[in-house]
Amino acid sequence: MLIKEHCSHFSMLPIGMRVMFTGTLIVLGVGYLFAMIYIFASHAGRDGNPNLSVDDLIIAYSGSKSDTRLEGALKGPMANMLPQNERDEIIAWVRRGAAQEEYAASIEPIIEKRCMVCHNGSNPHIASLKKYEDIMLMAELDTGMDIFTLVRVSHIHLFGITFIFYIVGSIFCHAYIKPVWVKCALIATPFLAIVLDIGSWYLTKVYPPFAWVVMVSGALMGISFAVQWVISIYQMWFYTLPEDVQKSGGHVS
Ligand code: HEC
Repeated sequence: MLIKEHCSHFSMLPIGMRVMFTGTLIVLGVGYLFAMIYIFASHAGRDGNPNLSVDDLIIAYSGSKSDTRLEGALKGPMANMLPQNERDEIIAWVRRGAAQEEYAASIEPIIEKRCMVCHNGSNPHIASLKKYEDIMLMAELDTGMDIFTLVRVSHIHLFGITFIFYIVGSIFCHAYIKPVWVKCALIATPFLAIVLDIGSWYLTKVYPPFAWVVMVSGALMGISFAVQWVISIYQMWFYTLPEDVQKSGGHVS
């Protein structure tokens, strides 16, 4: 094979380039951690159990057959906005049928005190909870994330994640991995996973067990990020190429 079809191993690269690669990987790594914290905070606990589970994903994407959006939010992402007893009071009120008289007497004061800071209707991206009618919209049976939101989040993810794995993959190309198909599989996996992941958000709406594919492809993306990250940093600073590869100029496939 021609030398041109190879790229140089990390150890053959100028120090400035290695510093730049390292900086990029560190910042992307921190970004990935924040992304995972965000996923956890926005999905975990919807099913009543504080861990992140397939049931949480099913509720997030396809809705819950027994819960309203209000209840799902109060158990999940909004859980920390109010004390347990007030949360139970709202949930119990919804389950009793969300009567208007009761709302004025005992629910409105809680909403006023705990939720109005954000849900006063001034931000178009946050549902208004000002009036009884607003609350009633949230107290209907939960049908999960709406298609428009899914489309919005899909395009952001498809662009963003492609950038991330293009950058990480370009750096990882300078690693020495044998056999070369393993290296190719590691580079290809996240691209396959993001397509599966996003496709399954929509499929979960139709057939909830697809939430498993969302979970597994998310995990595959995380694992391939971690593997490429660790191997790149390790080979950049702590690794000595085998003798024969060094002799032939440090070219890797
Ligand atoms: C600190 C600001 C803040 C406070 C306080 C807050 N929320 Fe929220 N809430 C948000 C944001 C931001 C979202 C949108 C989250 C998203 O779409 O990812 C949201 C979403 C929701 C949703 C989901 C709406 C939907 O479209 O499914 C409900 C229901 C909700 N909040 C209820 C409440 C209730 C009830 C309270 C008071 C106990 C409350 N929130 C307090 C910021 C807040």
